[in-house]
Amino acid sequence: MKTTRSGNGEIVAGFLAPHPPHLVYAENPTQNEPKSRGGWEPLRWAYENCRQRIKELKPDVILVHSPHWQTVVGHHVTATPRLEGRSVDPIFPHLFRFDYGMDVDVELAEAIVDECKGAGLEAKPMQNPKFRVDYGTIVSLHMLNPDWDIPVVGISANNSPYFYDDKIGQEEMSQLGHATAKAIAKTGRRAVLAASNTLSHLHFPQEPNPGLPEDMSCEHIQSQAQYEWDVKIINLLRAGKIDEFFEVMPQFCREAFAEIKAGGLTWMLEAMGRPRYGAKLHGYGTVIGTGNAVMEWLPDNSPKSDSQASGGQK
Ligand SMILES: [Fe+2]
Repeated sequence: MKTTRSGNGEIVAGFLAPHPPHLVYAENPTQNEPKSRGGWEPLRWAYENCRQRIKELKPDVILVHSPHWQTVVGHHVTATPRLEGRSVDPIFPHLFRFDYGMDVDVELAEAIVDECKGAGLEAKPMQNPKFRVDYGTIVSLHMLNPDWDIPVVGISANNSPYFYDDKIGQEEMSQLGHATAKAIAKTGRRAVLAASNTLSHLHFPQEPNPGLPEDMSCEHIQSQAQYEWDVKIINLLRAGKIDEFFEVMPQFCREAFAEIKAGGLTWMLEAMGRPRYGAKLHGYGTVIGTGNAVMEWLPDNSPKSDSQASGGQK
C-alpha cells in the first residue's frame, strides 16, 4: 500500500465494536471453517448499519484497539504491509478458525509509534510478517468491513499498567489516544476508529447447549446487576455525558468485569476529543451471557445520513 499525504487528516467516525467470535461464526463467511445456522441477529443487524456508514464515509484506514493482543512492555502497532494466516480463538476453537488477510497502513502505524515515543510512552512497530493476528482484532474488523478492502492498523492493549493501578492504566490509554489522533492528522488520513470491547463480561462457565452453540433460546444476560450496569453505561454514552462515564468507569469495570478495562474505549474517546455529542446505539445483545453494544460516534464534520440530519443521534 502506498499512501503518502500530509496534514488535515481526521477521524471520521468511531465505533464500539465488540468481538465475540460467535458473531463471525453466525455470519458464515467463507474464511471461517466452522459453519452455523445463524444466531445473535440483533447484534449482526447492528453491525450492518455500521458497514453502511463506513461505505458512505470512504475512510483510508480502520484502526482497531484489541484487548486480545496483550503486550506487557509498551504499545505495539502493526507495521508490516500484509498480514495473512489462520487465527483460532483459544476459548472457542469450535467456533472460530478464520483465514485472514489484511493490508496494513504502515506509514500511519509508524507515525503513531513516533507520536507515542514523543509523548514519553513505550511503543514499538510490529514488523513480523508472520505475526498471528488475534481474534478480537479480526472479529471487529470483519464485522465492520467484511469486504476487507480498507487498510487497517492494529494497536495492542498494553496491560502492564494494570499491574499497578487502574487509573494510571487508563491515563496511559488517554495518551495513546492523543498520540493516535496526532498521527492521523499529520499523515492526512481519513480514519475510522474501532474499540474492540464487550461491556459487561461475566459469562456462562459452560455453553448451555454444546450441540448447538447458536441456540438462541439459551441466550440471556448473566445477571441482572450486569444488565443494569450496561444500560447505565449505554445511556451515559448516548447522552454524551462523557465526564460521568469516565467517573463511573472504574466501578463498572470492577463490578461487571467490563472488557473496556483493557483501554480500547478510553483510547478511542480520547482520540476523538472526549465527544460530548451523543453516541448512536445500533444494537445491544448478549453473547454467552456477556453484554455487547454496537455504538457509533460521528463527529459534526462528517456527512450525516438523512435520519441523523433530521433528528440528531439517538
Ligand atoms: Fe474479548
